[in-house]
Amino acid sequence: MTTGGVITFHGLTTQDPAMRALFRIVEKVAREDVPVLVRGETGAGKELVAHAIHALSPRAAGPFRAINCAALPATLLESELFGHARGAFTGAVKDTPGHFQAAHGGTLLLDEVAELPLEVQAKLLRVVETRTVLPVGGRDPIPVDVRIVSATHRALRQEVEAGRFRADLMYRLRVIPVFLPALRERPGDVAVLVRRFIAEANPRSRRRIDDVAPAALAALEAHDWPGNVRELKNALAYAYAIGDGPVLQLDDLPPEIARPDGSGDAPDAARADEAAALRAALEAHGGSRDRAAAALGVSRVTLWRRMKKLGVTP
Ligand SMILES: Nc1ncnc2c1ncn2[C@@H]1O[C@H](COP(=O)(O)OP(=O)(O)O)[C@@H](O)[C@H]1O
Ligand SMILES: [Mg+2]
Repeated sequence: MTTGGVITFHGLTTQDPAMRALFRIVEKVAREDVPVLVRGETGAGKELVAHAIHALSPRAAGPFRAINCAALPATLLESELFGHARGAFTGAVKDTPGHFQAAHGGTLLLDEVAELPLEVQAKLLRVVETRTVLPVGGRDPIPVDVRIVSATHRALRQEVEAGRFRADLMYRLRVIPVFLPALRERPGDVAVLVRRFIAEANPRSRRRIDDVAPAALAALEAHDWPGNVRELKNALAYAYAIGDGPVLQLDDLPPEIARPDGSGDAPDAARADEAAALRAALEAHGGSRDRAAAALGVSRVTLWRRMKKLGVTP
């Protein structure tokens, strides 16, 4: 789909040049059977990128599996990844394949790979090197043919330097590193995505939105989006649930987007500024309230009242 600079690539909608460049890289690396590491903030679309790599690869007809390495403790993670043999632990009533076996002939996404416990990293390295898995409690290694795509919001190299990630595994997984820019780094994409999500939501919603009020769009564009596209989707779901009428209004948006600190009346920012000024004056005068008040040009009583209101102690 192409409309006036906006493209949708395997579910990723954008008009951003860096995203387009990323798509071209994805198209190329998908064809090669090499491990890819996708780095990007949470909600930026890493899973969609991983799926695109699978869909464009010769493995497209095979399975695509994803596992979140941050979600489970080490022992469970091992069993989920590599499977377990009957009797390996209480409740292991039959041989159970893990994600590696389930992804045989296809692609396995190791999501939040930087969170893998070190002991699991050692086992994963063995799998990558031998192309076999040894299920927990199992005796015989099972050959697996799996293309690994990893994703993380962290700089893996820094994790290696901090001793939390094995360097040898990093080199195995990060043969092709690709970087997914955050939503706040793609000016114009907020408006594009708002339009896409409204078009998607209208047919299945009680509310029908035909337009976005300029103040609402301005607030959406000014927001920092720490949760990226996922957060934007949620903000629109909020607007559908909270607001009425065909125009999405500023008041329909979650408060942190509609009324962020430091804009509009910004009482919090103003209070913080005043508190900082009081502290600075007190510090400059060795904690003397008389002299701090004189320096600020207010009475001693006024200074005391403001200190109390703002929770400032000398
Ligand atoms: N460019 C995009 N266009 C449309 N939807 C997107 C885009 N990027 C992310 N999404 C959607 O946002 C949500 C989060 O994306 P996901 O790939 O799970 O992010 P991550 O894996 O980086 O946390 C998903 O619902 C996904 O479909
Ligand atoms: Mg994710």
